[in-house]
Amino acid sequence: MHHGPDMPEAHYDEVAVTGGAGFVGRHLVTALSLLSQKVTVVDHAPLPPELAALPGVSYVRADLRDYGETLLALQHADAVFHLAGNASGTESVAHPRHDFHVNALGTCNVGNACLELGVRRLVYLSSAIVYGTPRHSPIREDHPTGPFLPYGASKLSGELTLRSLHAAAGLSVVIGRSFVVYGPGEDPRRAGGEVSQFLRWHLNERPIPVVGDIDRKRRDFIHVEDLCRALMILADRGADGEIYNLGTGTAISMRELADAVGTATGRPALVDADSSSLADSFTLLADVTRLRALGFVPRVSLAEGLSGLADLLGPFPETPSAKAVFRREAPARRKLTLTAAVGAGEGAATC
Ligand SMILES: NC(=O)c1ccc[n+]([C@@H]2O[C@H](COP(=O)([O-])OP(=O)(O)OC[C@H]3O[C@@H](n4cnc5c(N)ncnc54)[C@H](O)[C@@H]3O)[C@@H](O)[C@H]2O)c1
Repeated sequence: MHHGPDMPEAHYDEVAVTGGAGFVGRHLVTALSLLSQKVTVVDHAPLPPELAALPGVSYVRADLRDYGETLLALQHADAVFHLAGNASGTESVAHPRHDFHVNALGTCNVGNACLELGVRRLVYLSSAIVYGTPRHSPIREDHPTGPFLPYGASKLSGELTLRSLHAAAGLSVVIGRSFVVYGPGEDPRRAGGEVSQFLRWHLNERPIPVVGDIDRKRRDFIHVEDLCRALMILADRGADGEIYNLGTGTAISMRELADAVGTATGRPALVDADSSSLADSFTLLADVTRLRALGFVPRVSLAEGLSGLADLLGPFPETPSAKAVFRREAPARRKLTLTAAVGAGEGAATC
């Protein structure tokens, strides 16, 4: 196989991808399989049929909140891409304990298992959510962290745990903080990424609901295929214990995105602006100097990514139902007596 200048080289005997059945994971497993890499998908969801058909791909069902299951699932891997977790900020607001168990404890389990099993390289897919509201733009990796969602706190916890295992026990780990990912295969019921949401509304001939300030809200959108290539480059050449922003270095406003959706489909987009929540109306733009120094160059432009996705979705795809929620209404205060707490069983009074 010919490797371009920024092509990763497959040089691990066996690679495990946690969360390999998910949106990003399915693309990464496919890309690794195309490089003739043996890949184990580790997930508690079933193996998607399209992956089962790929050469060199096997599957272990595991819940990473369970350390024994984690150890068994990773036992043959000499490199691990850790992608499994809750990827929804909204879900983390509704269920912060679940989010923490999966993202923080699950990541600690993966890091510890990698140490115990002598895994040569761990790549952790974290998120730009850990920065919280940016103080300036573009964001370098040394920008202060300050998550405003439980999701950001649990992803940051995962990062801190893995870096501490690197410092204290020599875990070989590289961390990627992804900006907004888009591409084929996002679940419109769960994923809140604007690119596929905007396209889905527009392909249904409906106005695009835009939450926040249409000009001030700007994002760095990275195509999932570029993200997967960046992750493979981190496995190959990332510095141990280091953090890398994973983005393109270009900020697109919600207005520009709606215009690009119109161009990709040949029909101008109508926008239904909702400025009732301005909580995320800021520029979230990656400084990608560090990633570029490893030889990464994004290959899929937003225009190409959008037209590919529009062709794939076709007319009248399922409309998005994922919502962006930043705050939860305060619940009526629960009264717990000792007997009620005991009777209610595990965890009843722990929040
Ligand atoms: N999608 C994005 O825009 C984005 C941006 C930044 C970072 N990320 C990170 O990328 C990773 C993957 O995101 P995604 O969009 O593919 O999410 P996804 O929800 O599509 O995939 C996550 C996968 O993890 C699995 N999983 C969840 N809990 C598990 C557990 N306890 N044990 C085993 N498997 C479990 C799920 O079954 C699923 O297949 C996440 O860690 C997320 O934080 C995603």
